[in-house]
Amino acid sequence: MRAVEFQEYGGPEVLRAVTAEVPEPGPGQVSIDVAYTGVNFADLKARAEGYRVPRLPYVPGLEVSGRIRALGAGVTGLAVGQEVAALTEGGAYAEVAVAGTTTVFPLPAGVDLRTAATLPTVLPTAYALIHTVGRLQPGETVLVQGAAGGVGTVAGRLARAAGAGAVYGVVSSAAKVAHAKEHGYDEVFVGAFQDPVRQATGGRGVDLVLDPVGGETLRAGLASLAPFGRLVSFGNAGSAEPWTVGQPELYPLGISVSGFSILTLARTAPAELRRLSEQAFAKVVDGTVSLPVTAEFPLADAAGAHRLMGTRTSTGKLLLRVHA
Ligand SMILES: NC(=O)c1ccc[n+]([C@@H]2O[C@H](COP(=O)([O-])OP(=O)(O)OC[C@H]3O[C@@H](n4cnc5c(N)ncnc54)[C@H](OP(=O)(O)O)[C@@H]3O)[C@@H](O)[C@H]2O)c1
Repeated sequence: MRAVEFQEYGGPEVLRAVTAEVPEPGPGQVSIDVAYTGVNFADLKARAEGYRVPRLPYVPGLEVSGRIRALGAGVTGLAVGQEVAALTEGGAYAEVAVAGTTTVFPLPAGVDLRTAATLPTVLPTAYALIHTVGRLQPGETVLVQGAAGGVGTVAGRLARAAGAGAVYGVVSSAAKVAHAKEHGYDEVFVGAFQDPVRQATGGRGVDLVLDPVGGETLRAGLASLAPFGRLVSFGNAGSAEPWTVGQPELYPLGISVSGFSILTLARTAPAELRRLSEQAFAKVVDGTVSLPVTAEFPLADAAGAHRLMGTRTSTGKLLLRVHA
């Protein structure tokens, strides 16, 4: 089969089209003839710095849509030929990918294969950030970093649907503001956000901050919280040292900090992730959320998708077309 792998860490140019063995599903797994693969920022971090890469060479890719090709031992409730969306542990930049059945989902009603490939990572993540972990209440205010990207686009929609009092976004360039405003954001700040947030909230700060960046941005997010506010950390896009937070930051205003990682949850609490994902997919079926595909590349040009996302000019979701 065709696949795209890297044999060393580096820029998009290290992604190489190769011929690889078709993977067979192990017990509790299925293999999938891939229609589309979703591109995630985590794929860029894997390629550039080895994020969650067990060994080289490595075929990146965390989510696919397609048709079940083969069932592993003990798999019930799924059938060969069935259309599914799936979260994978790498290996999705390929014509055939393998996934454990707890993260394989029959296509939600009314969702086609192209849309389905946008869902497995971003949608449960955004749902967890707003609801399960972030616990946004009607009337509360929320601030989302990376507001025009994959997670940010869905988070804006979900926050608005949850009855947020105001949804604020942060992006790195003015060109992304319009996209975020089309997806639930009331105000979008370009770059610096601390003073604008204070101004927009009459000095109070926001109830919930969603932070995929870390470092100084996380610190500024903490400083932007209202009394009893919550910050959810869900990434380290800025590649800063891991953050630590303690009494001096938490006590004065009774704030809290939590975290979320869909890939870790898939390992530590797969049944919880499945429940969360099903709740999240229901938001697509009922029309609350749609995630626009803003660019599509053939599998062989995965480097093109990485270049686009890596230059911080992409909005919405990027896909690789494999067998569509
Ligand atoms: N914890 C989880 O379970 C989980 C799951 C999915 C994604 N994530 C994280 O969520 C974020 C968005 O992921 P995505 O796949 O949907 O990608 P994306 O948002 O479509 O694209 C990457 C985003 O990262 C921002 N960015 C890029 N380089 C950056 C840098 N050096 N410093 C700060 N921001 C930078 C960009 O926003 P601006 O250029 O506008 O700042 C852009 O929105 C990533 O950090 C990813 O690791 C976490």
